[in-house]
This record gives sequence, structure tokens and C-alpha cells, in this order.
Amino acid sequence: FQPKLLAGRRVLLTAGPTFEPIDPVRGITNLSSGKMGYAIARAAREAGAEVTLVSGPTALETPYGVRRVDVQTAQQMHDAVMGNVTGQDLFVAVAAVADWRVANASTQKLKKQNEQDTPELQFVQNPDILATVAALPQRPYCVGFAAESENLEQYGTAKRIRKNIPLLVGNIGHQTFGRDDNSLMLFDDQGHSALPRADKQTLARQLIREIARRMAQSPD
Ligand code: C5P
Repeated sequence: FQPKLLAGRRVLLTAGPTFEPIDPVRGITNLSSGKMGYAIARAAREAGAEVTLVSGPTALETPYGVRRVDVQTAQQMHDAVMGNVTGQDLFVAVAAVADWRVANASTQKLKKQNEQDTPELQFVQNPDILATVAALPQRPYCVGFAAESENLEQYGTAKRIRKNIPLLVGNIGHQTFGRDDNSLMLFDDQGHSALPRADKQTLARQLIREIARRMAQSPD
């Protein structure tokens, strides 16, 4: 028997990659599959929460009972999150959001003019969705993710403080994208602890338990 740890709670998540257009048929994306975020959305719903999942482009099925909002770009993901954040108890930012978008994206397909021709792309920073939600005066309990390839302990602690969030979850190792298993390191104001390697759905359920316990103790 799984107790309904998040009964009556409202949970908002981001998951998957973003897609930043270069022109109408090309763009910049990343290798995020969305599997971890979708697994957490499913686990939150199983725990009794009302779940909204803001998702970049993925090949995954919507978890049962989850409300899904599809977006492509980081800016669209930001706008969908801000449009849904009021009244949420928990925000889990799992998406691999592009740090930059193409400033001079073309409305027409770029054409190769000659053998030497290469396009000049300029970039502009995207908004930090997690930092924006964490700065809200009436904020939900905020959980961030980090995919550091080295020095996870040091960077994880620093990132949690910089992002001003009560819990940061680090992917241990950098081979997580697309895989069905993962291992996680949890950083909070008490220090850090590991969730050993398991399939992402098992880890998601463990993570929801860890989050629910902290929310029950948190003034946030
Ligand atoms: O700073 P970094 O990109 O490593 O932070 C990762 C965390 O911040 C993840 O939780 C990610 O979903 C979130 N993030 C965000 N908006 C961005 C960049 C990252 O919500 N533009």
C-alpha cells in the first residue's frame, strides 16, 4: 500500500528538451529524452497530486491522469510555466532548457548560395525558468535538476544556493540522457545524500517521497 503522500497537492513540472528554431525547418535541441521528468510526473500523480506537465518535444506517452502542455522553445516553456504556476504547491524543473536561442532566426528556409556560404547565427540568452519561479513572492516548493559532468558534490551545493531553492537533484554521471536508469544525488540545507542506481520510475517514486517529506517540514 502506497500512502497518498501528495493528496490534494498541485504539482507543476517541466520535462524534455527545448527546440530553438534557426529557420522554419531547422533548429537547435539537446539529447534530453524527457524520461526522468515524465517518470516524476507519473509518480506525483500516483501520490495523489493534480499534475501539470509542461513538455518540450519528446516521443513519450502522457502519463495517466496528467495534464500535459506541449511547447517547443524555452520562451514558450517559460510562458506556459508562468501561466500555470499560480496555486501550485510544488514545481519540479526537470527540462533541459536551452541556455541560448538564435537571435536572428530566419522566417524563411536558409539557402546555400555558393560553396563558401555559411550562415552567421547570433545568440541571446533564454530566461531561467526555475530562477524566475523561485523568485516569486508566493512560490511553490521548488526542486531543480543538475546534469554536471564532474565535481557534482561541489557544483550541486553551489547551484542549489545560487538558484535559491530548497532541493537540487543531481544526475550522477553524464550518461543519463535517453537511458532508462539513473542515479541521483540530493542536495538540501542539511547536506547531500544519494539515491543509488535504479530504473527512472523507481527513482521517481523515491524522489517524490523525499520531496513530500521535505515539503511537510518546509515553511515554503
Ligand atoms: O543552471 P542549469 O541550467 O544547470 O540549471 C538546471 C536547472 O535549472 C534544471 O532544473 C532546469 O530545468 C532549470 N532551468 C530552467 N530554465 C533555464 C535553464 C535551466 O528552468 N533556462
